[in-house]
Amino acid sequence: MATILITGAGSGIGAACARRLAPGNRLILVGRDARRLAAVQAALPGVHAVVSADLATPAGISAAAAAAGDGLDVLINNAGAFRLAACEAIDAGHLDALWRINVAAPMLLTAACLPRLRAGGVVVNVSSTAADNAFTGCAAYTACKCAIEGWSRVLREELRPRGIRVSVVAPGATDTPIWSAATTAAMRGRMVCADDVAAAIALAIDAPAAASFDRIAVTPAAGPL
Ligand SMILES: NC(=O)c1ccc[n+]([C@@H]2O[C@H](COP(=O)([O-])OP(=O)(O)OC[C@H]3O[C@@H](n4cnc5c(N)ncnc54)[C@H](OP(=O)(O)O)[C@@H]3O)[C@@H](O)[C@H]2O)c1
Repeated sequence: MATILITGAGSGIGAACARRLAPGNRLILVGRDARRLAAVQAALPGVHAVVSADLATPAGISAAAAAAGDGLDVLINNAGAFRLAACEAIDAGHLDALWRINVAAPMLLTAACLPRLRAGGVVVNVSSTAADNAFTGCAAYTACKCAIEGWSRVLREELRPRGIRVSVVAPGATDTPIWSAATTAAMRGRMVCADDVAAAIALAIDAPAAASFDRIAVTPAAGPL
């Protein structure tokens, strides 16, 4: 039985990970919205703790890391936010809002959890195929996800001697609440399902001990939107 901390577990890909990983594991679910986390918890076995915390704050990082207690086997850095702005419209507020949750939060939470992470463990960082592409309006988000991928490469090397693997899972367009309410049903119908991204995350976690699934991209079979 592994102890698994999932950020952004109240919705979308994080909730799908909780559903996928609940059987046989001890889950710690983290997010800001306590009601959504409670709803995920109520539907599942194996939820050990629910932490309502804003990971864009130092207090939120401390609260989430403390919930890991004595030991953690898997950390899934999934919480994130998406906003559009053309390059000329990017201001400090836009950049700060995206950077704090998409980049600073996973880096700081991982640093805080590392003393508790057991040998044989896995860190999964949720990136995006935005890191590989040039979608107009996505500059700040893309910069954040490129930062996550660079950090993940260094983290992988630093954790190798401890027997901890680092995997990046990069979804393409996935049908979750991160997309605006204006997104059409036709567009959503072409997207990847959150459960399928969770399956890729589970694959990374369950990789054979001698293998590291460094990066898995999950894209819509019908092609990019
Ligand atoms: N959906 C896509 O097309 C897509 C594609 C590529 C990558 N991704 C990535 O996938 C990850 C999950 O996103 P999703 O698509 O599943 O969207 P989502 O349903 O909106 O999930 C994002 C989660 O992050 C949590 N979160 C946001 N800000 C937070 C904060 N300050 N502190 C703590 N938790 C916070 C939210 O929970 P609370 O609001 O309760 O805090 C929410 O549960 C993100 O990293 C996203 O960048 C998504």
